[in-house]
Amino acid sequence: MAAAERHARDGDRSGPAWADAQGTLELQIVQGLAPDAERAETSRPLLSISLSYPAIFALGFGCALSYGYWRSEQLPLPDPLRERARVASNSFFKAFDEMMSSDTVESLLRTTSRMKEVLDLQALSNATLGLTDIVKNRTSLGVKDLLPDWQVPAISQVLGKSERVGIRMAREGKRVKHPVIMVPGIITTGLEVWDGEDCIKNYFRQRIWGTTTMLQAMVRDPDCWVRHMTLNATTGLDPLQQPFFNRTIRIRPSQGFESADFFLGGYWLWGLMIESLADIGYDQNSMYMASYDWRLSFSDMEKRDWYFTRLMQQIETLVRMNHERAAIVAHSMGGNLFHYFMQWVTDNVHPNWVHNHIQSIILISSPLLGLPKPYFSLLTGDNRDFATMGTFSAVVDHYFGSSTRRSLWRSCSSLSMIMPIGGDAIWGHKVTGMPLAQVEGRNLTVEEAYNLLASKKQVPADLQRIEAWLLEGLRASRPPHSAPNGKSDVFWGNALASVLPFAPQMRMYALYGVGVPTEYTGALGMTGDDIQRPKYAIDREAHSPNAGFLLGDGDYSCPVLSLGFMCLKGWNSEERNPARIPCTVREYKDKSGKSVISGSLRGGPSSGDHVDILGNVELLEDLLSLVSGGSLEPRIVSDLAEAAQRWDDSSDGSG
Ligand SMILES: *[C@@H]1O[C@H](CO)[C@@H](O)[C@H](O)[C@H]1NC(C)=O
Ligand SMILES: *[C@@H]1O[C@H](CO)[C@@H](O)[C@H](O)[C@H]1NC(C)=O
Ligand SMILES: *[C@@H]1O[C@H](CO)[C@@H](O)[C@H](O)[C@H]1NC(C)=O
Ligand SMILES: *[C@@H]1O[C@H](CO)[C@@H](O)[C@H](O)[C@H]1NC(C)=O
Ligand SMILES: *[C@@H]1O[C@H](CO)[C@@H](O)[C@H](O)[C@H]1NC(C)=O
Repeated sequence: MAAAERHARDGDRSGPAWADAQGTLELQIVQGLAPDAERAETSRPLLSISLSYPAIFALGFGCALSYGYWRSEQLPLPDPLRERARVASNSFFKAFDEMMSSDTVESLLRTTSRMKEVLDLQALSNATLGLTDIVKNRTSLGVKDLLPDWQVPAISQVLGKSERVGIRMAREGKRVKHPVIMVPGIITTGLEVWDGEDCIKNYFRQRIWGTTTMLQAMVRDPDCWVRHMTLNATTGLDPLQQPFFNRTIRIRPSQGFESADFFLGGYWLWGLMIESLADIGYDQNSMYMASYDWRLSFSDMEKRDWYFTRLMQQIETLVRMNHERAAIVAHSMGGNLFHYFMQWVTDNVHPNWVHNHIQSIILISSPLLGLPKPYFSLLTGDNRDFATMGTFSAVVDHYFGSSTRRSLWRSCSSLSMIMPIGGDAIWGHKVTGMPLAQVEGRNLTVEEAYNLLASKKQVPADLQRIEAWLLEGLRASRPPHSAPNGKSDVFWGNALASVLPFAPQMRMYALYGVGVPTEYTGALGMTGDDIQRPKYAIDREAHSPNAGFLLGDGDYSCPVLSLGFMCLKGWNSEERNPARIPCTVREYKDKSGKSVISGSLRGGPSSGDHVDILGNVELLEDLLSLVSGGSLEPRIVSDLAEAAQRWDDSSDGSG
């Protein structure tokens, strides 16, 4: 009933209306997920999150949901069936936990086989068969139907016949040189409960983001879960507890290498890289994972958690311990965050701090100029195919209506930090050949698109705290002559509009995958009144079969221009880079191909995917060379250079 009401309230037809008034079960989550699976098949030549994951999720959720539902509603269901669902959902979660906490490829594959066994279990088949009996005329839930090509690859299929990258590189003489600081991207750090309402108390110090605990917490009480994940819309900081409103909810980032080495629905975030670094001699004395609460705006990370201060001290310590300046390895939004950090440290600590402590910045898949997806999330609540979230995004989609989702994403200020940056100068028709957004068929300029979200005339109440960024910081395409309102940090998140510190001996690298279709243009329809539900929604009928988006070259999440423009051209300007720090672009053409490990979890050793690239063998080799003191040849295989020529970097680009 709660769920049905919630979706009625949000007016969202796509939710899991799995209970209707008659008390029959309608496991729409399964039906809802199936088209996504198809879509992943057609729009994404990669297998990573292809058929198997949605199917596993669907199945697990089918069981968990029905079990939870029966327990809470006391439906008059036959006991044997209820028992079977309980057994099924328990063994599912157990196997899933094992799978998700495997920290090497070998153990991943082992647990993946276990998962298959679990899925083939009679109990599960029985439970789902039983369900199909009850849910007559509904989609069949048979295991066999859901997993037509589920197969577990052999280890050699995934890794090739070769040995571990790090072991080979160690033999070739690569050793620890520069201490490595890893800065993870958005979404991918685990978040733990430190204080909360009664409904979540027994998850103390467990993750409500990033493991199956999260799924369990969600299944048990979705409203409670989302209340804890959502920050206060006015402050962008911790919300208060209900019903007394005088204690804050505290959700804090997990710490250490475990915080980001794997993520639900997306294996090997950093696991393989840590393993490779360890193989050439790295350990806690020479590397550090700088995890953070990815929901906060960059400035709030310092304000609430002193993140920059701590990061600075960690770097200083490792530099002292190793007698070498540090190599920063930043993935995805981590690159944007580190850029911001350099501004902060130069302004607050010492103008030479970067010069004295940083040897190189290795940006992996870092969208320094943003990407379209977060814009659409903030506008519509859409989060489907948020690559770093894996299939979990589909689960969020199905649990919460679009208004709830939009509130959740709007409360996460970080999302706005990776919206398309630089306005029409970068994202306009002239450079990309595509508009950023279309409304009912009309192509908008980038400025118009920004204004749909927040304009000088009107900034929505839940975005007012980041007004300066949305109206000024984000839109600039060159370093401004004076900062608005005297606030110097407004432009720090914008690589186009801020100046690199003077560090002539530092080196920068942008490594990223290309050759994967990536969203550039979203088609919007006007569907809501902006009170009951968002005014705009992605028009999934448009641009078939890509469910509302026009695609271009990139790494599945980020268009190639955002990954390479700053390095190739933006930092060639003395205005932004007075020390003329060289930056090397190196692209990795996606070669994962679907055939190699169909049914496996991730993209394999030569994937160019936004996240999977952290396990790309060639990239790992290059990275090990760099941190052990080597260099790297530039390589551009996309049409980045031609696109960069279309970018007119001399104009002010304000319109
Ligand atoms: C599944 O059902 C079959 C027959 O309906 C039964 O023999 C078997 O014991 C059941 N298995 C479990 C684990 O419940
Ligand atoms: C269920 O399907 C059967 C045969 O496919 C059909 O006769 C029946 O009317 C359906 N029931 C409902 C409620 O749709
Ligand atoms: C959010 O913070 C503001 C300002 O501190 C406060 O007035 C408001 O009650 C808070 N809202 C919630 C839902 O906690
Ligand atoms: C919290 O606020 C409520 C309402 O103002 C008050 O009744 C209660 O005593 C407060 N609790 C604490 C622990 O301060
Ligand atoms: C809008 O943009 C698309 C994609 O670039 C283009 O094909 C179409 O012709 C444009 N429409 C108009 C009316 O300019």
